[in-house]
Amino acid sequence: MSHAFLAPEFLADYSLRTHNTFGFDVRARHAMKIDSVEAAAALCTDKRIANMAQLVLGGGSNIVLTRDFDGVALIVGIAGKRVIAEDDDAWLVEAGAGESWHGFVAWTLAHGMPGLENLALIPGTVGAAPIQNIGAYGLEMGERFERLSAVELATGARVEFDRDACAFGYRDSFFKRAGRGRFMITSVVFRLPKAWTPRAGYADIARVLDAATQCDAQAIFNAVIAVRRAKLPDWTVLGNAGSFFKNPVVSAQAFDALRAREPGVVSYPQADGQVKLAAGWLIDQCGWKGRGIGGAAVHDRQALVLVNRGGATGAQVLELAEAIKRDVLARFDVELEMEPVAL
Ligand code: EPU
Repeated sequence: MSHAFLAPEFLADYSLRTHNTFGFDVRARHAMKIDSVEAAAALCTDKRIANMAQLVLGGGSNIVLTRDFDGVALIVGIAGKRVIAEDDDAWLVEAGAGESWHGFVAWTLAHGMPGLENLALIPGTVGAAPIQNIGAYGLEMGERFERLSAVELATGARVEFDRDACAFGYRDSFFKRAGRGRFMITSVVFRLPKAWTPRAGYADIARVLDAATQCDAQAIFNAVIAVRRAKLPDWTVLGNAGSFFKNPVVSAQAFDALRAREPGVVSYPQADGQVKLAAGWLIDQCGWKGRGIGGAAVHDRQALVLVNRGGATGAQVLELAEAIKRDVLARFDVELEMEPVAL
């Protein structure tokens, strides 16, 4: 059953500065805040935006805005967190796409439902989490994912996606590929198993936990927060989009050749025989840490993070990214791939 809703306000010449974590001051010709599934479904018949380019924005934590947007920015504000089912094995928990990711993780723990603690403090919204299958400290969101609801923007159709339909990969999903730009995710359901086991194998986390008296979910949550605060810049102070590049995955053969030349290379063997390399290490070795172009710079504590030191533009960040890619390719013969989406 659909409920009556107020058509969202139609804002003009709208600054996106507070809607992207780099803090770039670009403007959208129009903007609308979408607070309900009904409002999302009604967009396709809204005459005010007919034939207009559309940009769905969550927390703006995985986007590089390089120019003003000649279209309508759809800012997802759908709220709500609730347990929708519980059986002997797990809780099924649903959150609106506009909820803060970290707020949701904290809420699950406060209600005695562990399982997402390794993903504490990741910037952005619940609705954005599946798009790049957020991951950190030994856990990817896809492992706790049950299903999501979305609206197809062109038709207003409400669609459900299960885990297979989302095609999750490393910082990747259907929504970054064939589904790109076509859907607004409206809510996500997670399955949190009751048989909880800690994921505390990641070296940085293990180090902090050694000092703690017990290893429960709350302790891991606190450890992840401490490690992130020590290494990763706070975007409200220093604009950034987290890791700017994916950690590249190379063949075993390419890795052997690389290690012969660079014995110190930081690597993680994958189940399929390929090898993941630490892009932060590659960039660091090229001497980029702390260096930059104008206001765009490589963070001085984590070379994988590009920051806006103040007054940078998205174009400068992309220029810096290209220079880094060239150096890494020249020295290591490894191609880096950007993690955020550029617009
Ligand atoms: N390293 C350096 N120099 C640097 C940065 C890293 O030598 O400037 C080395 C480190 O010493 C370490 C290795 O590279 O041996 C890996 O570094 P780290 O543990 O900091 O993690 P990462 O591989 O750089 C990834 C994710 C992060 C996630 C952390 C923890 C990607 C692209 N990044 O970073 O995710 O928080 O692991 O799990 O997979 C994000 O995606 O936005 C993100 C922050």
